[in-house]
Amino acid sequence: MSSSNSKKRRRVLSGVQPSGNLTIGNYIGALSQWAREQHNYESFFCVVDLHAITMPHDPALLGAKTREVAALYLACGIDPDVSTVFVQSHVPAHSELTWLLNCITPIGWLYRMTQFKDKAAKQQQESIGMGLLDYPVLMAADILLYQADAVPVGEDQRQHLEITRDIAQRFNHLFGDTFTIPEALIPPSGARVKALDNPTAKMSKSETSSEYHAVYLLDPPDRVKKKVMRAVTDSGHEIRFSGDPERAGVNNLLELYESLTGESREAIESFFESKGYGSLKKAVVEVLNETLAPIQQRYNDLTSDSSYIDSLLARGTARAAEVANSTLELARNRMGYLKPFS
Ligand code: TYM
Repeated sequence: MSSSNSKKRRRVLSGVQPSGNLTIGNYIGALSQWAREQHNYESFFCVVDLHAITMPHDPALLGAKTREVAALYLACGIDPDVSTVFVQSHVPAHSELTWLLNCITPIGWLYRMTQFKDKAAKQQQESIGMGLLDYPVLMAADILLYQADAVPVGEDQRQHLEITRDIAQRFNHLFGDTFTIPEALIPPSGARVKALDNPTAKMSKSETSSEYHAVYLLDPPDRVKKKVMRAVTDSGHEIRFSGDPERAGVNNLLELYESLTGESREAIESFFESKGYGSLKKAVVEVLNETLAPIQQRYNDLTSDSSYIDSLLARGTARAAEVANSTLELARNRMGYLKPFS
C-alpha cells in the first residue's frame, strides 16, 4: 500500500537553489504558484542547498543566500503557519534516500538529462563533479520523501519530474509500492521567462554574463526600468503574442505582462494596438515594480530581526524531518535493511 492512500490532504513539495539572485522567472514559474496553491495542499517548500554545490560555489556566501531565499519565500506570500519551510541539508534523510535511489537508477538516464549536458558543457571535463550528474536523483529524493502528489515548477524542470516518476516506479516495481508518483504543476503562462538580453535563452539566476540579463526580486525600481528599457526586441512594430523566434523579445515582454496582470491575451493585444514598443516596455516596468514593491517591503521587515527566519526554519525542519524520516524508514524496510539496535 502506498502511504498516499492513508493521508487526507494532497501534498506538494518544491524548492529553489540558493545560488545567484532570485529572478522574476523564479517568481512567476515557481514562487507565485506556491503561494496560490499552498491552501489547496499540505505544502513543503525547501531551500535546496545541497543542490547549490553541484556547480562551483563560494562557501562564504552559501549560508547568507540560504537565509535570503527562505526570507524571499515568505516575502512572496508563503505563510509559515500554512506551509512547512525548511533547509534541505538540515534534514539528512534527503542525502540518505539519494544513496538508496542511486543504486537503482541506471546511469544512462542521468547522462541523457539536458540540464546535465548544458551545465557540463560550461566546465572543463575533468572538473565536472559527480554531484552534477547525480543532481536529479537528489531532486527525486526531495520529492519522494514527502510522498508529494504535485510539484509546482517552471518548464525547465519538466525532465527532472519525469525522471523522478521513473525512479519512483522502478523502486515500487523492485521492492513493492512505496512512493507516490508525483505530477508536475507547470503554470499555463510564464513557465519559461526568457532573458531580457537574449530572448531565445531562459532567464537564469546564475547567469552573470550581463547586468541586463534578468530582473531580480530585490532590484530597486530604477534598475528594473533600466533593464527592461534595454530589453532586446526586433525591428518590427506589431505588439502581438507570437511563437516566431524573430519576435521572441516582444513575446517575452507580453508574457511577463500577462503573467503579472492576469489579463487575457485578447485584452492585452487590444490595449497595445497602435502603441509602440516603448509603451509596452513602460507598461512592463510599471507592473514589475508594482509586483516587486510589496515583496521587497515584506523582505525588509522579515530580515530586520535576524533570528526570526532562523526560528521559523527550525520549526519547519522539525516538521519536515518527521515526514521524511518515516518515508525513509519505509524505503529502508522495503530494501531489506536491518533496523538499528536500540
Ligand atoms: P531553480 O533553483 O533553478 O529554480 C527554481 C524554480 O524556478 C523556476 N524557474 C523558472 N520559471 C520560469 N521561467 C524561468 N526563467 C525560470 N527559471 C527558474 C524553476 O523551474 C524552479 O521551479 N532543480 C530545481 C530545484 C529543486 C527542486 C527540487 C524543485 C531541487 N529539488 C524538488 C522542485 C522539487 C532548480 O534548480 O530550480
